[in-house]
Amino acid sequence: MLFEKKIRWYKLFDSMEAANSFVKTGTLNSINVGNKKICLANTVNGLFAVNDKCPHNGASLSNGYCSSEGSIVCPVHRYHFDLKTGRAKSGGGDCVDTYPIEVREDGVYIGFSETVWNLF
Ligand code: FES
Repeated sequence: MLFEKKIRWYKLFDSMEAANSFVKTGTLNSINVGNKKICLANTVNGLFAVNDKCPHNGASLSNGYCSSEGSIVCPVHRYHFDLKTGRAKSGGGDCVDTYPIEVREDGVYIGFSETVWNLF
């Protein structure tokens, strides 16, 4: 196979306590990681990460809010996006990029998929 999909992990916080301090439960906050602006959503179901740019018309999703059904709601046209899948639950058929979050012993990480050459 010439191309291989890999996940590159970036450390966001030294601990879950630091993450909870940065983005309180039930709220959103933005953070720049690896040339991307990420919207972090801290919900009762855990910490989620999506691209901060709304796929509908480019609004900053971190200026929106979390719904009680596990969605992020865009502040401009109020489209709802599922935090796990990124799919629009209401509004158009757009999809926002989602990123995995891992809580490890030494901190909280976010993963970005990348395609790399695999010649051998
Ligand atoms: S800009 Fe987000 S729903 Fe329109």
